[in-house]
Amino acid sequence: MTVITVVGSINLDFVATGSKLPEPGETVTGATLAIHPGGKGANQALAARRLGAEVRLIGRVGADAMADQALALLRADGVDLTGVGVDAAAPTGAALIAVDAEGENQIMVASGANAALTPDLLPDVVDGALICQLEVPLETVAAAVARATGFVCVNLAPANLAIDDAVLRRADLLVVNEGEAGDYGRRLHGLPGVVAVTWGSRGAGLLRDGVRVATAEPPEVDAVDTTGAGDTFVGALVVAMLEGMAPAEALRFACAAGALTATKAGAQTALPWRAEVEAVLGR
Ligand code: RIB
Repeated sequence: MTVITVVGSINLDFVATGSKLPEPGETVTGATLAIHPGGKGANQALAARRLGAEVRLIGRVGADAMADQALALLRADGVDLTGVGVDAAAPTGAALIAVDAEGENQIMVASGANAALTPDLLPDVVDGALICQLEVPLETVAAAVARATGFVCVNLAPANLAIDDAVLRRADLLVVNEGEAGDYGRRLHGLPGVVAVTWGSRGAGLLRDGVRVATAEPPEVDAVDTTGAGDTFVGALVVAMLEGMAPAEALRFACAAGALTATKAGAQTALPWRAEVEAVLGR
């Protein structure tokens, strides 16, 4: 299968799980702390890898102990990390995540070395398939997309309206959640590629020029922590499309993979393997 290059963020996630999410200015006590590898780029890379793809990650970490923890699962599962550089001046990215009793989350990211992933650190040509998200500088995303020779997926998260229209036009696949879809609005219409919109536990749709061409619902699961579910959806949808699955089948595969991620705590610690997704789909 086509090799997938992911250009994106690498974080260490500090996750406090408690009874409720804090309101602005509120302190919620009684939470428990866990530390997991995360970052949208790293999560998507590992998701695609666990679903059967050859994956290389291009990113940046700090010269610190957090980097080892952040890269541990990627390394263990055979993601090619030769494109991950070490920045002497910035710490590894960190995400402070609050999770409530229903598995909903709030995330604040301290970008650290991810902000130092500049276009000069990219290869001149990105062969195979490319996945990007927006937790690294937008000019780096634009450069990666411009240098891509094959299938391009851009997960427009977190929403950043400063993204170049050339990126939207070049992408074969754009992925947004419903909040992000509202943020980008009509900029997601009239594009050559398809747009996947995720609606959390209600599933996802695939749209071409604003018209829905496929819909899928996830299996019913008990959500423990939704962190990383969207990233799994992205990695899984790209794997499915590269394998030539029909749109509705690809969407169903991605929804099932995302739903499984929500059944366990953490992002990368919860990413499913191919056999688990196939089992949920009854294959
Ligand atoms: O999408 C989930 C991810 O967002 C977390 O792993 C966190 O690191 C933030 O980047």
